[in-house]
Amino acid sequence: MAHIVAAPCVDCKYTDCVEVCPVNCFYEVDNMLVIHPDECIDCTACVPVCPVEAIFTESDLPEKWNSYIALNKEKCNGAPNITAKKDPLAKNNPDKCKGGA
Ligand code: SF4
Ligand code: F3S
Repeated sequence: MAHIVAAPCVDCKYTDCVEVCPVNCFYEVDNMLVIHPDECIDCTACVPVCPVEAIFTESDLPEKWNSYIALNKEKCNGAPNITAKKDPLAKNNPDKCKGGA
């Protein structure tokens, strides 16, 4: 099992999650972050820090976002690792990303 970044991250990308991950398993694609399923140790540290509640354990993932399991696995390959917080895309999407500043 692993944790999954799902739809609420898309176009928001707050990046608070990367700062708490003990194994640095977040990877960055254009419009969101993804978690490497073979590297995540299911510590759950990232779940409460995401302002838009985009991160789930595989077993808690809402069914409508099931496709994100494969998406995280596929997109992390070749994507750059991200370990430091940066400006969110959310500032350009204030109506969509209501969870945080
Ligand atoms: Fe990292 Fe833990 Fe979140 Fe997995 S559950 S991505 S190991 S912080
Ligand atoms: Fe995305 Fe939430 Fe991290 S919006 S970048 S999963 S803090």
